[in-house]
Amino acid sequence: MTRRAVVRGVGHYLPDRIVANSEFEASLDTTDEWIRSRSGIERRHFAAEDQPTSDLATRAARAALDNAGMTGDQIDAIIVATSTPDLTFPSVATMVQAELGMTGGFAFDVQAVCAGFVFGLANANALIISGQAERVLVIGAETFSRIMDWSDRGTCVLFGDGAGALVLEAAEGDGSNSDRGILATDLNSDGRHRDILYVDGGVSTQTTGHLRMQGKEVFRHAIEKLAATAHTALGKLGMTGADVDWIVPHQANIRIIQGTAKKMGVSMDHVVVTVQDHGNTSAASIPLALSVGVANGQIKQGDVVVVEAIGGGLAWGSVVLRW
Ligand code: UT7
Repeated sequence: MTRRAVVRGVGHYLPDRIVANSEFEASLDTTDEWIRSRSGIERRHFAAEDQPTSDLATRAARAALDNAGMTGDQIDAIIVATSTPDLTFPSVATMVQAELGMTGGFAFDVQAVCAGFVFGLANANALIISGQAERVLVIGAETFSRIMDWSDRGTCVLFGDGAGALVLEAAEGDGSNSDRGILATDLNSDGRHRDILYVDGGVSTQTTGHLRMQGKEVFRHAIEKLAATAHTALGKLGMTGADVDWIVPHQANIRIIQGTAKKMGVSMDHVVVTVQDHGNTSAASIPLALSVGVANGQIKQGDVVVVEAIGGGLAWGSVVLRW
C-alpha cells in the first residue's frame, strides 16, 4: 500500500471588480489589441481597496471545503502560496485558519512567486506522505494590483487578483500510476536570475515596492524550463505528454502556454486556459484554472493532470496528479 494525497475538493474566488484592457488606454500608451495579441489577456479582476489577500484566500478555501463536503475543523494543515501577504507577519495561512474556525493543526505560507502553488502542492504532498497531516488545504492567493507600477505599461496590464484552493486528503493506493492523487513532483530554482523578475521594495527598504520585469528575458526561460520540468516529473512515472489528459499551466501568457504544450507534444485541446479572463494572478493562477476546469466539465475524476509554473527567483516546477 502507498500513501497518496488525493484531491477531495476545489474552489476559487475572484473579486467583483473586472477591468477590461481598454480601461488602460486612457492612462497608458497601450491598446487592447497589443495586450490581447502579446499576452492573450482580455480582462482581470482587482480586489477592493480594503480587501486583503487573506479575504480572497478564505473565500476560496470555503468554496473548496464546500466542494469537498468538509468543514474547517476537519483540516489539519493550511498552506497559502502568496507573495502579497496582508502583513509581513503573521502568515496569511494563520489568518485563514482563524477565519475557518480551525483551532488545531498548523498553517504557514510559502513564497515562490508564480510557482508558489506548485511548491505548496509538493510540500502538502510531503506532509501527507510522511504522516504529518491527513487533510491539507493548499491555497494560492494574491493581490498583485498592490505592487503594480501603474505607469509601467510593460507590467501593469498583465497581472490580476484572485484565489483558488484545493483540499487534499490522505488515501491508500497500490503505488501504481493508476492511483488517484499526486503521483510525482519536480521543483527547481536558480537565484542567478533574480534580477529579471523582482519587487524593488520590502522590509529592509521600508517600502512595499513595485514589480519589475524584463518580460522578454522571462519569456525566454519560461517555455524551455516549463517543458523540461513537466518532462522530468512525467519521466519519474515512465509517462510522456501522450499520457496527459490536461495540462493546467500557470496563466501568464497564452504564447508561453501554447509554446510549452507544443514542446510537450500535447494539443491545446488538452490545456485549461483562463489567462484571457484572469490575467496573471501569480500563485493563484493554477488553482483558479483547476477550479474553472472542473466547473466547466473539462477535468474529471481519473484524469491525469500536469500543473506547471515559473516565476520570480527564478523558481519553477511541476506536479503530476490523477484527479
Ligand atoms: O508570471 C511570471 C512569469 N512572467 C511571465 O511569464 C511574463 C513573460 N513575458 C511576457 O509575457 C512577454 O514578454 C510580455 C507580454 C511581457 C511582452 O511581450 P513581448 O512580445 O516580449 O514584447 P516586448 O517586451 O519585446 O515589447 C515589444 C514592444 C516594446 O516596444 P519597442 O521597444 O519594440 O519599441 C515595448 O516597449 O512592445 C512595447 N510594449 C507595449 N506596447 C503597448 C510593452 N508593453 C506594452 C504595452 N502596450 N502594454
